[in-house]
Amino acid sequence: MKKLSTLQWETSVGALGKVDEEAFRSGRLCLIDQTLLPMERAHATCREVAQVWAAIKKLQVRGAPAIGIAAAYGVCIGLQTLFADGRTPSMAEFYERLDEVTAYLASSRPTAVNLFWALDRMKSRAERLPGTISPEKACVRLLAEAKAIHREDKVLCRKMGAYGATLVSDGDGLLTHCNAGGLATADYGTALAVFFTAHKQGKKIHVFADETRPLLQGARLTSWEMREHGIPVTLLCDSMAALVMRQGKINAVFVGADRIAANGDTANKIGTYSVAVCAKAHKVPFYVVAPSTTFDLTLRNGSGIPIEERDPEEVRCGFGKQTAPDGIEIYNPAFDVTPARLITGIVTEFGIISPVTRANIAKILGSEKR
Ligand code: MRU
Repeated sequence: MKKLSTLQWETSVGALGKVDEEAFRSGRLCLIDQTLLPMERAHATCREVAQVWAAIKKLQVRGAPAIGIAAAYGVCIGLQTLFADGRTPSMAEFYERLDEVTAYLASSRPTAVNLFWALDRMKSRAERLPGTISPEKACVRLLAEAKAIHREDKVLCRKMGAYGATLVSDGDGLLTHCNAGGLATADYGTALAVFFTAHKQGKKIHVFADETRPLLQGARLTSWEMREHGIPVTLLCDSMAALVMRQGKINAVFVGADRIAANGDTANKIGTYSVAVCAKAHKVPFYVVAPSTTFDLTLRNGSGIPIEERDPEEVRCGFGKQTAPDGIEIYNPAFDVTPARLITGIVTEFGIISPVTRANIAKILGSEKR
């Protein structure tokens, strides 16, 4: 079966690796439409920045690193309008449009810091352009930056996988929540990179995937990814994790992250906090796997992390079937914050931070990083 890429910049000249005026002008963002999985494998194509915004908002592309990459390409798509109808814009118009497009994309989802990190990186690349550059050449440089963000994320995944796999033993049962795999990143995932790497090393592992209410990223995406890689997986309703831990079937928990504060408090998919509490109660190690791009060292702790609240209909009427009475009050936060004290270690591309303390985080990431 043809391998679908989570994200891909496609051009009508077909020169995927080339970054020139034609690759910029005719480019569009293709992404696996994750809302259709696992029943349908199809790409969505974004030719306008509003489509990129909607793809992020609707979770056609989701997972913190993937959102950042999509947004970086989204900036390029937003800049294409500068050249509509053969216009020749000025550099002042280039910077004005760049501000407009980055602010717009930043309004799509609030929690995953990778989105803001990628947009900041695109803007700071633009600020470093030579004063004599043409708008068209400036756009080519920004497309090259988006591609660099995309490429670098693949490397991060592999490094996290290698560090994380040192925590896995032959025969382990491993629990995860939501989807922090290939679909959520450029390549191999964060938490799931650990499973893929351990599996490749020949360790026999068994994965337990929480289904992850309300949008079922665990059921639809993680169990699908495990099967694609030939890793044995058992799907659980979220409420079953404590029992399975008590039965002694779980040796460790690995989850991804959307934003990690300077003290290690970690925002991830709603329900992660409950899993961490259960893991603590059953003395099961609980690991977060995330690249440095997911840390927000401007926040002293997790209380400042903005938590996205989503449409109540996702709970009342998930996947087209009403399961609660009309008019019932619904609370639908998409993320929660797991306090650092419940986290055994954070696996990054630089190594494993354990114990999770402000000092250890600063040491590994370098406090000057942001
Ligand atoms: O709402 P989602 O599906 O974007 O939430 C995703 C998660 O919570 C992931 O665990 C997180 O982004 C890490 S992805 C490597």
